[in-house]
Amino acid sequence: EKDIPNLVDMVGQNYAMGAAINQSALDAENQHSQLLTKHFNSITADNFMKMDAMQPKEGEFVWSETDRLVKFAEANDMEIRGHTLLWHSQVPNWFFTDPNDASKPATREQLLARMKTHIQTIVTRYKGKVHTWDVVNEVISDGGGLRNEASNSKWRDIIGDVDGDGDDSDYIELAFRYAREADPDAVLVINDYGMEGNGNKVNDMVKLVEKLLAKGTPIDAVGFQMHVSMYGPDVKLIREAFEKVIALGVNVQVTELDVSIYSSNSELEMPVTDELMLQQAYRYRELFDLFDELGKRGVMDSVTVWGLADDGTWLDNHPVKGRKDAPLLFDRKLKAKPAFWALVDPT
Ligand code: XIL
Repeated sequence: EKDIPNLVDMVGQNYAMGAAINQSALDAENQHSQLLTKHFNSITADNFMKMDAMQPKEGEFVWSETDRLVKFAEANDMEIRGHTLLWHSQVPNWFFTDPNDASKPATREQLLARMKTHIQTIVTRYKGKVHTWDVVNEVISDGGGLRNEASNSKWRDIIGDVDGDGDDSDYIELAFRYAREADPDAVLVINDYGMEGNGNKVNDMVKLVEKLLAKGTPIDAVGFQMHVSMYGPDVKLIREAFEKVIALGVNVQVTELDVSIYSSNSELEMPVTDELMLQQAYRYRELFDLFDELGKRGVMDSVTVWGLADDGTWLDNHPVKGRKDAPLLFDRKLKAKPAFWALVDPT
């Protein structure tokens, strides 16, 4: 490990280079911890800063894990990306129910008050310590427009059009305003998946962000999760999707990059051959060529991979049970893969 170059020194000149981790990577003796501090200068919690982890019961905040993360980041001079303040998934049901009768839904006023308390309690505690917040995650529906009950989110349906101007994105606007009030210097991000193919989803995001910016909503960047595959989308489409967002005058970030070895959900498990890993290395290289170019232009300020090594990828078992994937820069034994070498030593 000693004689291999640092990822962050090689690629992270114009943007923060981050990884998603679980708590075990914060133990200094853990090998994942060594990978993390050697190669990255930004950290995202994979699960332990989500709504259900931070406030499992109303008014009962859990600080221990994030406090540990903050200490670790300070000791190692790293940034934190806070993920995430508002999401339809991994959110406790109490948010959406009547405080006196759990069989009834919460009112708009109740949910708004809870949203404000959740966001401001957390952002205030970590003011100046969490560099960037994914304020809202996955608010665009795959079928068009904002995610709603039919696409598993209660936020939009319960809060809806607060100011009566015929627009249903008020909860998103308010989430950003609450976050900005609590920490005027944090970078505030709207994060989503499936936009890099330059289809309807990025167009919906662009429309939404344009509208929110026109109302003065404090959005600094759009986060592209980028759970992509070796086979697509084409880098030309990815560039076009980024450019649409950049044209709005906000930055782009890559927040959850991984490069699956599968092209579809129906594929059965494949052996991880040298040839496959080499092909993956080319794919990583073409993606980072684009990130580097945007970094130099000052419009991409953060790139995060969703996991340190293949042994901890969320794509094992997802979406196909029992199927193992190999989407990251280090293998299951934490050894640098061809994809890593393609980034630090492209020759
Ligand atoms: C994933 C985690 O990696 C898993 O451990 C968990 O079981 C589900 O969530 N989009 C996101 C991330 O914004 O929070 C998700 O993380 C992956 C998809």
